[in-house]
Amino acid sequence: MTTGNNPRKILISGIQPSGQVHLGNWVGALKNWVQLQNDPAYECSFFVADYHSLSGDYDPRNKRRQVMETMTELLAAGLDPDRCTLFLQSDLPEHTELCWIFNTLTPLSFLERMTQFKDKSGQQDRNVNMGLLDYPVLQAADILIHHGQAVPVGRDQVQHVELTRDVARFYNRKYGVDYFPEPEPYLTDTPKLHSLSDPLKKMSKSLGEKSCVTLSDGPETILKKIKGAVSETEGRLTIIEAELDELLTKPPEKRSLDEETLRGQAGAWNLINLLRLFGHEGEAQAILDSQPIRYGELKPLLAERIAERFADFRERKRELEADPDRVLKIFAAGAERARETARKTMREVRRTIGIG
Ligand code: TRP
Repeated sequence: MTTGNNPRKILISGIQPSGQVHLGNWVGALKNWVQLQNDPAYECSFFVADYHSLSGDYDPRNKRRQVMETMTELLAAGLDPDRCTLFLQSDLPEHTELCWIFNTLTPLSFLERMTQFKDKSGQQDRNVNMGLLDYPVLQAADILIHHGQAVPVGRDQVQHVELTRDVARFYNRKYGVDYFPEPEPYLTDTPKLHSLSDPLKKMSKSLGEKSCVTLSDGPETILKKIKGAVSETEGRLTIIEAELDELLTKPPEKRSLDEETLRGQAGAWNLINLLRLFGHEGEAQAILDSQPIRYGELKPLLAERIAERFADFRERKRELEADPDRVLKIFAAGAERARETARKTMREVRRTIGIG
């Protein structure tokens, strides 16, 4: 992690330690990270955002285990400490120190209008803590402390990267410097995976076990979850995918299809999309070409393909779980490397703002 005349762009992203990585996280983030670490255009850092995760509802007894599991899963998924810097956010308290300085630059109104803040304060209405509001400022600190220029994130995080750009600009303007870069979100076009239990919603851990397949699920669990996936049952796709996407963006009262029909269609398309992603070439097309869809064939095939795809992941995860010290060492070494940049940034920032 160097700056100055480094020809490689600095790329950084984080993942919250909130349970096992599922197919949605894989498609939306991890899969790209594993590819990006091999791209010579980027110098990559990835971290486990444990400070961020404290702003959600959680059971303190589970936190340490969840953090460890996420670190293990990043390695099992193929992130390689020789190709990227991997660290745990709380190993670098400098992130929170910079966050405080950024707090004094960020208008409250900018934070109050963040979509994620509004969603989360609705979901956890008895725990609308300051951390939830300040979340994007810490994210800005995560990125800017390492002079990040590219931030691979899903669409839901683009607003936070934009806030990071605002914060960088406010800082540079207030202190009359050209110090922090304005990072860009790095978006890859990935289909949004829907929940297996309610395909009108995005695949998400918070919708429960049955909503998503995790990368750690074994073949039987995958089959059970896929078999239980909600979809229409006639085998007929009555709307094309583009229509479905359009309908899903509209509020329920403005949709031309009733909710149950739409849910069934969304479920069927979700299975097809999963097969496109995880099946062999042409398998999804063959299903589309021979409608009516036979779910009795589609579902076991899909389950088998997902199980195959993550067999290596499951194996590597088992190996790493048997050797937790190895995981801890890798992350400690990553933190040491990341700390150098973070400390340098903090020295320079303190000097600039007049407290160092
Ligand atoms: N907010 C991100 C998410 O939930 C996680 C995150 C924290 C992050 N800090 C970051 C992502 C910095 C990119 C850069 O997905």
